[in-house]
Amino acid sequence: MASWRQLFLLSHILINFVYLTIAQPGFLDYHCIENGNFTSNSMYQTNLNTLLSSLSSNIDRNGFYSSSEGEGSDVVNGIALCRGDVELDSCRSCVNDSTRKLSQLCPNNKQAIGWYDYCMLRYSNQSFLGTMDTSPVYHLWNENKTSDVRQFNQDLRNLLDDLRGRAGSGGSLRKFATDNTSFTTATDFRTIYGLVQCTPDLSERQCTDCLLLAMEEIGSCCVGYKGGRVVYPSCNFRYELYRFNKEKEITPEPPLSPPPPSSEPLRPAFFQHSSLETNMEMPLREASNFSVNEASITELDGR
Ligand SMILES: *[C@@H]1O[C@H](CO)[C@@H](O)[C@H](O)[C@H]1NC(C)=O
Ligand SMILES: *[C@@H]1O[C@H](CO)[C@@H](O)[C@H](O)[C@H]1NC(C)=O
Ligand SMILES: *[C@@H]1O[C@H](CO)[C@@H](O)[C@H](O)[C@H]1NC(C)=O
Ligand SMILES: *[C@@H]1O[C@H](CO)[C@@H](O)[C@H](O)[C@H]1NC(C)=O
Ligand SMILES: *[C@@H]1O[C@H](CO)[C@@H](O)[C@H](O)[C@H]1NC(C)=O
Ligand SMILES: *[C@@H]1O[C@H](CO)[C@@H](O)[C@H](O)[C@H]1NC(C)=O
Repeated sequence: MASWRQLFLLSHILINFVYLTIAQPGFLDYHCIENGNFTSNSMYQTNLNTLLSSLSSNIDRNGFYSSSEGEGSDVVNGIALCRGDVELDSCRSCVNDSTRKLSQLCPNNKQAIGWYDYCMLRYSNQSFLGTMDTSPVYHLWNENKTSDVRQFNQDLRNLLDDLRGRAGSGGSLRKFATDNTSFTTATDFRTIYGLVQCTPDLSERQCTDCLLLAMEEIGSCCVGYKGGRVVYPSCNFRYELYRFNKEKEITPEPPLSPPPPSSEPLRPAFFQHSSLETNMEMPLREASNFSVNEASITELDGR
């Protein structure tokens, strides 16, 4: 009897472990912004729920959707943004998950923001479309150092400068660019993969300004490391020495067929750090129903 019980417990632990390690990496960080609470069953809450339930079904292939609900002091404004290389199904699933998760984590805040690998959700009683916001910020970096920091920084800078220009000029539906460049040292030949994105409601100028500010933060978070990310409400970038992106941006038209599945493992081993006082403890143990099709993004080991 005891052995059955032990077996049961062991399998339970294993299932939970697998569940947590598979489900959790997509969720990065969130902030419940302390700028007013709403009361339960208020008009604001009704409007917020209506807004949140509309996002994932309305977001389209461009990966951005903004909406407002309600009137006067009960207006709620919200946006959902998906990473520009994520398929629509994964995008919707990520947005769906984020609406449920953020309203659980910030049950009474009028303003909140949450970031996943594949999407961002943001809502507020204040209108923020067309404004460039660089706070709160989220930093993440790969724990390993590069072999030649000076050369790496130079190649990285060239890549990100190019991507910044391309994302900025992306138009009013999508401001996203991803690509790679070679990083060559005396002993090593590697590829740096990069990705940048702005919310498409920004102007070209706001987008490039936002990315410039974000890139300046490499110096304080990520310099010398093999990978890094700076994530703002209005723009973000990421780079790695392994493929985490898809080769091309998804173009809005025509519809694409899904890429072949891959059995490549994810690379969740990062340190993380976030720099705002309103930051709350990360619910690392919290399970998530986030069910992105991870196979659609191939992640190769860069070592
Ligand atoms: C948002 O809510 C806060 C707190 O209730 C309030 O001080 C602020 O004026 C509101 N902003 C708008 C635009 O309604
Ligand atoms: C909002 O709610 C939080 C948590 O319930 C509380 O700590 C905070 O003081 C409240 N803020 C305001 C302005 O009432
Ligand atoms: C969002 O999640 C809910 C609850 O799991 C589900 O009923 C709904 O179909 C999902 N919507 C989308 C668009 O995935
Ligand atoms: C780098 O990106 C180009 C497209 O710009 C692609 O054709 C190439 O396969 C990529 N190289 C690597 C090593 O991923
Ligand atoms: C860092 O390097 C160690 C040793 O090579 C490796 O085991 C680990 O997976 C690397 N971490 C990342 C995030 O690449
Ligand atoms: C996951 O989904 C199940 C059923 O759809 C639900 O009972 C459970 O509360 C969800 N868990 C989280 C963390 O959302």
